[in-house]
Amino acid sequence: MISETASGKIILFGEHAVVYQRPAIAVPVSQVQARVTIKKSKQPLTIQTSEVLPTPLRYGALRENSEVLISYADLRDDDPLKAIIQLTLRSFKVTPPHATLTIHSTIPIASGLGSGAAVSTAIVRALAQYFKRDLDSAAISSLVYEVEKIHHGTPSGIDNTVIAYGKPVYFVRGQPIETFNVARPFRLAIADTGIQSPTKIAVGDVRAAWEADKDRHEKIFDGCGAITQQARKLIEDGQPDQLGSLMNENHKLLREMGVSCPELDDLVDAATRAGASGAKLSGGGRGGNMIALVNEANEGEVREALMGAGAKQVIITTVTSDQ
Ligand code: MEV
Repeated sequence: MISETASGKIILFGEHAVVYQRPAIAVPVSQVQARVTIKKSKQPLTIQTSEVLPTPLRYGALRENSEVLISYADLRDDDPLKAIIQLTLRSFKVTPPHATLTIHSTIPIASGLGSGAAVSTAIVRALAQYFKRDLDSAAISSLVYEVEKIHHGTPSGIDNTVIAYGKPVYFVRGQPIETFNVARPFRLAIADTGIQSPTKIAVGDVRAAWEADKDRHEKIFDGCGAITQQARKLIEDGQPDQLGSLMNENHKLLREMGVSCPELDDLVDAATRAGASGAKLSGGGRGGNMIALVNEANEGEVREALMGAGAKQVIITTVTSDQ
């Protein structure tokens, strides 16, 4: 049996503005993962999942026991699962194997943690192992990007990049990926509002707002880009404890873009009141997750404050150069 995984991700700085060519920083989060196994079988390719998939509504009726078994042949061509399998098999010039492909994911869907890109990445990795192909991170990332377009409409490509490379990235749309050194590890609390918010909708709304007032939005995006550059320098210079005020500023700009929501703002306030030196929403916004800069001395209190303010889950993660 073949088994492969892919980690979730968070965006530290620059979400949304990254769609408009400004830089953004993202890091993998290994505490949440997608896992794909492939087992040979006598039957044509079948997909099985006992966890939530990034396409929950389509199979809603089938998942009463949160268990879905569906034949690959029955999936629609625009289904993200079908798309990633089909693209990968085509790139290998092979036909669907007689096998069962099982997907488990602990990454909450539509929450800014990259569930769609992680499931796709784990599928590509597993198929590559099954067919004994050597795919580098760039090849995996570009296959996953094609499917991100189904999930997100006009994705910048940051999710597939950070997840396929599995390293912190400084990302500018259309430019070669840059990784960077995290001179001193730092800790983040990641808190989930529990509100599912498809990135596609938030990205579409930002686009409509940008169309309506390009000058205003270009200035906001410039502000996000400048924050991201300063943040990279602080991380490379070993001064991550100073990232807090940049997180607060970035959150303010995301609010101006209209992608925050009362629940995210409450979690940001709760974290900073409990001692986090900065906090912001992370990813598409309107729900999903926020992040707060913590340290060993205050992370317990911040976690408690976040849960008290309505977080459904809090993960503490350490950001290092090789995660
Ligand atoms: C989603 O994780 C990040 C966004 O900037 C969208 C994108 O970059 O494609 C909101």
